[in-house]
Amino acid sequence: MKLFLLISFSALMSLEAFGNSHESDKQALFKFKSQVSEEKQVLLSSWNNSFPLCKWTGVTCGRKRKKVTGLDLGGFQLGGVISPFIGNLSFLISLDFSDNSFRGTIPGELGNLFRLQYLNMSLNILGGEIPASLFNCSRLLDLSLYSNHLGQALPSELGSLRKLINLDLGTNNLKGNLPVSLGNLTSIREIYFDENNLEGEVPVVIGRLTQLLIFVLHSNHFSGMFPPAIYNLSSLTFLDMFDNGFSGNLRPDFGNLLPNLREWSIGNNSFTGTIPSTLANISTLQFLGMEYNSLTGSIPLSFAKIRYLQTLALNDNSLGSFSAGDLEFLVALTNCTQLQSLDVSFNRLGGDLPASIVNLSMSLNKFALVENNKLTGIIPQEIMQIPTLVSLRMSNNSLTGSLPEDVGRLGHLGKLYFAHNKLSGKLPETLG
Ligand SMILES: *[C@@H]1O[C@H](CO)[C@@H](O)[C@H](O)[C@H]1NC(C)=O
Ligand SMILES: *[C@@H]1O[C@H](CO)[C@@H](O)[C@H](O)[C@H]1NC(C)=O
Ligand SMILES: *[C@@H]1O[C@H](CO)[C@@H](O)[C@H](O)[C@H]1NC(C)=O
Ligand SMILES: *[C@@H]1O[C@H](CO)[C@@H](O)[C@H](O)[C@H]1NC(C)=O
Ligand SMILES: *[C@@H]1O[C@H](CO)[C@@H](O)[C@H](O)[C@H]1NC(C)=O
Ligand SMILES: *[C@@H]1O[C@H](CO)[C@@H](O)[C@H](O)[C@H]1NC(C)=O
Ligand SMILES: *[C@@H]1O[C@H](CO)[C@@H](O)[C@H](O)[C@H]1NC(C)=O
Ligand SMILES: *[C@@H]1O[C@H](CO)[C@@H](O)[C@H](O)[C@H]1NC(C)=O
Ligand SMILES: *[C@@H]1O[C@H](CO)[C@@H](O)[C@H](O)[C@H]1NC(C)=O
Ligand SMILES: *[C@@H]1O[C@H](CO)[C@@H](O)[C@H](O)[C@H]1NC(C)=O
Ligand SMILES: *[C@@H]1O[C@H](CO)[C@@H](O)[C@H](O)[C@H]1NC(C)=O
Repeated sequence: MKLFLLISFSALMSLEAFGNSHESDKQALFKFKSQVSEEKQVLLSSWNNSFPLCKWTGVTCGRKRKKVTGLDLGGFQLGGVISPFIGNLSFLISLDFSDNSFRGTIPGELGNLFRLQYLNMSLNILGGEIPASLFNCSRLLDLSLYSNHLGQALPSELGSLRKLINLDLGTNNLKGNLPVSLGNLTSIREIYFDENNLEGEVPVVIGRLTQLLIFVLHSNHFSGMFPPAIYNLSSLTFLDMFDNGFSGNLRPDFGNLLPNLREWSIGNNSFTGTIPSTLANISTLQFLGMEYNSLTGSIPLSFAKIRYLQTLALNDNSLGSFSAGDLEFLVALTNCTQLQSLDVSFNRLGGDLPASIVNLSMSLNKFALVENNKLTGIIPQEIMQIPTLVSLRMSNNSLTGSLPEDVGRLGHLGKLYFAHNKLSGKLPETLG
């Protein structure tokens, strides 16, 4: 009898707790709705007392307890601020507020959501700092806050998110150095820090992130040598360091250390020294951007081995020696049949344009090749046989002879620059 009473009493207790907690989810969502800008509340009209909670727009419930486990309001164009009551949805696993117009700050109460695995608040107008409490959500796999106005430095607590697979903090106002605790995110595969005001050297501990596939640092103020720890990340497929303050030489064995790169950009930095010829060992490489640096020496003929190369941007360096052998790479590149875009302008290239450029890829659609170099000889007639070319810039060289007869036949050609050369003769009639 006693036992029976005990059981039914506790059953009653848990029923009541169940009822209350369901009710508290509802109250939390009503509070949330009340903070959404009024003209948009109509989008949440199903959020009312006569309609079951688990069928409300954007709401997902767990099967057993009917607690809210998912809230997906991505792309709803909601405005207003995010209510701290969201932190009461204690069973929440997935929260998507991306692509709305939420202002104000990210409520620190989100740190109570210890079951949270997916958080996406990208593409809003959120300011302030990333609340430190968020780093208590230790089950997070995806944290995406890109394109907001979030400021301040990244706190060292970041390293607590040990399960994190994807971290996207791009396009914000983040400042300061990367925290050393970043090295604790050993499951991580994708990191985006682009378009912030981050600075200093990339910490050595990132060499521990051996699962990393994508590492995006572009448009910040990072400095120092090419981060030595990155040479440890042999799985990397996408490495974007564009527009920072990196300097120094690249290791000659670069291509043997990062053999899986598909896209690599170090454009707009202050790198010096020669282009490692081992880059040719990266057989997966499709995009290679090294423009706006201070690279010297020759363009490796070994590039002929990079079969899938689509974009090669080497412009605005000091490549070449104003001498005859400088364009040999052009012949080698005829092996790269996927090449679409080639830019070697603003360098120190000399020598005659080889006729073999006609055998450069048939998909070549940008050929900014020779602007501001010191090329000599005539413009080969054959150049007009590259059918998809849209831009041909050859100004400021020492080219002689006349324009090719067929120059007007390049159907796609939108931009044509031949100024500042030693060309003579008449303008070809096909130009019209
Ligand atoms: C509650 O939501 C349901 C479903 O969207 C809707 O049919 C109903 O009109 C709403 N009731 C009120 C009082 O807004
Ligand atoms: C819900 O959240 C608010 C704001 O954070 C808090 O004041 C309140 O105590 C919470 N209520 C419950 C039932 O947890
Ligand atoms: C976050 O939301 C944006 C916009 O809806 C989407 O493009 C992005 O893929 C989402 N991020 C993740 C990690 O799912
Ligand atoms: C994180 O959780 C711990 C205990 O679980 C708590 O002591 C701490 O205050 C929390 N930190 C923040 C920033 O909320
Ligand atoms: C990172 O890991 C180190 C060593 O494992 C530990 O001492 C440190 O507290 C961790 N930091 C964070 C923020 O988790
Ligand atoms: C690179 O990896 C090796 C072993 O995988 C490790 O011993 C070394 O400390 C790592 N270096 C860096 C800079 O992380
Ligand atoms: C790259 O650097 C050049 C020269 O400093 C600058 O003109 C250009 O705007 C930069 N490009 C980008 C996309 O930042
Ligand atoms: C890597 O490149 C270098 C220089 O181009 C070459 O000597 C070497 O054989 C290459 N290694 C592999 C594994 O292809
Ligand atoms: C170009 O490709 C052909 C056949 O694939 C190969 O025999 C040749 O060695 C390559 N040329 C260069 C310069 O690598
Ligand atoms: C283009 O390639 C073909 C086939 O390999 C070759 O016969 C021809 O001579 C080349 N043209 C030029 C101008 O090098
Ligand atoms: C042509 O290039 C030289 C360097 O190669 C440069 O000094 C000069 O300013 C350039 N002239 C024009 C008109 O761009």
